[in-house]
Amino acid sequence: MNSIRLLIVTTLISLSLPLQIYSQRNVLSLNNWEFSIDKAKWEKVSIPHDWAISGPFDKKWDLQVVAIEQNGEKNATEKSGRSGALPWIGKGYYRTTVNIPPNQTDGVCYQLEFDGAMSEPSVSVNGQHAGAWAYGYNAFRLDITELVKIGENTIEVALNNREESSRWYPGAGLYRPVTLVKTPKAHIDPWATSVRTKELRQGVDNHGETEQQAVIAYETQLIKPQGAQWKGYAFVVEILDNKGMFYTGNHFDVPEDGKIDTELTMSKPLLWSPETPNLYKIRSRLMKDNKVVDETITNLGVRTISVSKDGGFMLNGKTRKIQGVCLHHDLGPLGAAVNKAALIRQIKLMKEMGCDAIRTSHNMPSTMQMDLCDSLGMMVMAESFDMWIYPKCKNGYARFFKDWAEKDITNLILNHRNHPSIVMWSIGNEIPEQWDKNVGVEWAKKLQDLCHKLDPTRPVTQGMDRVDNALKSGFAEVMDVVGLNYRTHKYDKAYKETTKGFILGSETASTVSSRGVYKLPYKATNHGVYSDGQCSSYDNEWCSWSNLPDVDFENMDDLPWTIGQFVWTGIDYLGEPTPYDEYWPSRSSYFGICDLAGLPKDRYYLYRSVWKKDAHTLHIAPHWSWGKEMMGKNVPVQVYTDFDEAELFINGKSQGRRTKNHTANANAGQESTNPNAKGAAAPNLDRYRLRWMDVKYEPGEVKVVAYDKDGKVAMEEVVKTAGKPEKLKMDVWTAGKQLKADGNDLAYITISMTDADGNLCPNANDQLVFNVEGEGTFKCVCNGDATSLESFTEPTMRLFNGMLVLTVQSSGKAGKIKVTASTVPAETKNKKEKAAPITGTTTLITK
Ligand code: GAL
Repeated sequence: MNSIRLLIVTTLISLSLPLQIYSQRNVLSLNNWEFSIDKAKWEKVSIPHDWAISGPFDKKWDLQVVAIEQNGEKNATEKSGRSGALPWIGKGYYRTTVNIPPNQTDGVCYQLEFDGAMSEPSVSVNGQHAGAWAYGYNAFRLDITELVKIGENTIEVALNNREESSRWYPGAGLYRPVTLVKTPKAHIDPWATSVRTKELRQGVDNHGETEQQAVIAYETQLIKPQGAQWKGYAFVVEILDNKGMFYTGNHFDVPEDGKIDTELTMSKPLLWSPETPNLYKIRSRLMKDNKVVDETITNLGVRTISVSKDGGFMLNGKTRKIQGVCLHHDLGPLGAAVNKAALIRQIKLMKEMGCDAIRTSHNMPSTMQMDLCDSLGMMVMAESFDMWIYPKCKNGYARFFKDWAEKDITNLILNHRNHPSIVMWSIGNEIPEQWDKNVGVEWAKKLQDLCHKLDPTRPVTQGMDRVDNALKSGFAEVMDVVGLNYRTHKYDKAYKETTKGFILGSETASTVSSRGVYKLPYKATNHGVYSDGQCSSYDNEWCSWSNLPDVDFENMDDLPWTIGQFVWTGIDYLGEPTPYDEYWPSRSSYFGICDLAGLPKDRYYLYRSVWKKDAHTLHIAPHWSWGKEMMGKNVPVQVYTDFDEAELFINGKSQGRRTKNHTANANAGQESTNPNAKGAAAPNLDRYRLRWMDVKYEPGEVKVVAYDKDGKVAMEEVVKTAGKPEKLKMDVWTAGKQLKADGNDLAYITISMTDADGNLCPNANDQLVFNVEGEGTFKCVCNGDATSLESFTEPTMRLFNGMLVLTVQSSGKAGKIKVTASTVPAETKNKKEKAAPITGTTTLITK
């Protein structure tokens, strides 16, 4: 049972006048529901909820026999883990009740707000149809004023997920928040409110001194009951600083049409950027007889964005190249169910790598994620569709596009346009209609125009992969920002054949790797597949349509007209296990810079060494714990560092100095051939990496010493051969200083097997069991192995290359949580006795 709180009556200070707040606005999170897949058996769940994430994994779920056209396939073959091999297909039902006390139905409106529901949600209230939406990723709102009654109200949601409707794991259920919003009949509509930085300028303060000023454009369309007049209503809009103190404001009598259109000037505003995510709040108040009848709060980040031939992409008037990653919406072992702590972890992990932007591929983001991108400082390209009319999979969004596309773009923009983090809209990813000069171009124009109408401030793009087609048809030329997916060898052509004067790498790299796996002999290849279903972490494997990070770095560094890139992907995701689409078991991606558990792969440090400007990076790959059979054999060593020069030592013996070859052209060797063709030549990798290719393995230590520009020792890094596995190390991450006792907060505990000296045992694959006691519960566990079929939600899992990540959820009560992990010792052949387990423990305090 969810229950509406009573009328709020408080006294606040506004424009220095004591005011009474009679606002009847009330936002109720509907968290407690019952869920059923057959309407017979119901279970209690709290939402956000993903009904499929507990599995079991099975290749039979959504087994697709298809040719993946965008990967250049001609013949249909069996694709087992394409959408995650989890049971997300089918129908699902949710129901809950809300108690509405007497006097709570007169003069008020009730609106149900879904931030997304997977998928095809159909909603009824007290047995009557309230409305429906088609796309599982979009937010939608239903006015249910006429359907609610005093007393107990039942809300039911029916969902339907069809097979072959997705190219990745979509999740299933009420995976994003649902809220019931009560407002007075005359009210402010946050979706009808737009706040934007119109201009940053040099102005003059009260003392005649020059100062920076921001002009904030504010518009809203107030809502009133039919036939009612705005006479007697006033409106106040105020900017509050981060302490809630009044900064500036305006007030008016509400005009007859209820439209407010004003500008506020801020003196010396603190600007928003990824590095300085300063936020203000806009407080909007609708008043009558000097009483506040409705009030809303909107985030304000003061910042300007522009794209141009001369400046490229500019934030606050400064050119910067976007250092972005693409992310699918799933949160690894949590599935699609959104969680604040999990999103904070993702954003912080990406920022620590030097990343400053996320592309929400290929769909609308959650509001929670956008709020966090605002407050933590992460730019966003908010995307919408993976297909339009021509289907990329049998039952995908193409079924809805013609009827729903404009409604979907409208909701995307109205819901999200006040987030300063969003710097660009995307109307599509690799839309097959790129070749079509009629239908394709028409829709591109129509959707882009709609974006402009609803939001005149942000440029619009889409990720194009059929570069020649998109250029020929005029499809690319339509877009504000020409976004190319891969096809780096076509950048120059696209730049020359479009008039915009810049190119965005809307999707780049698609390099594949498995954390801690190193394939020998070292071979750069675009068609590497192995019998264990893993890819090499030497970061030398890509796909026939993609490339290695080095090529993208070079394009950003050498081509002044590139405006940035979004790497595919920042973190591994469920589904699309390329290059193992046909291999079982394999059910999640290899593209991530981090694995599915959020553990950095080596590639993380390659990006960090180039992107992160305020810290040094020095990272060695591979591990140095090879078996006897590798003695004296060649094990190349790769170092990722922002320093130009370093020397490598194996057990104290110098292996020589290496210096980055800045003149090297990563594309060299590719010029004459299409680098995306199967079997294409490997690029030159010595511009962004330091490599010692002829090192012979001997146990001990590998040490790298980096030198600064003056030739002085700047930094050292050592990797040692691990001894016997002896300890389980537990490293705890929480979003705040302490875990919050709110029943939602998560602690991520990275568990590593180490020897007695704390060296990681990179080959350990022991089975672990977990025990969580006190004011918290075991939530999930993930080891980042794309071929694992162990459930994320059972408290046992095998280590993958020495590591895994355990997630613990706080209860609603403050206290202690004791977390224990232990190995399950295998029985030895000769003796029936088991060895003593290796155990690790940590205690968390929740407040
Ligand atoms: C792109 C596509 C992505 C993903 C990626 C894998 O073409 O836009 O969704 O499939 O390839 O490399």
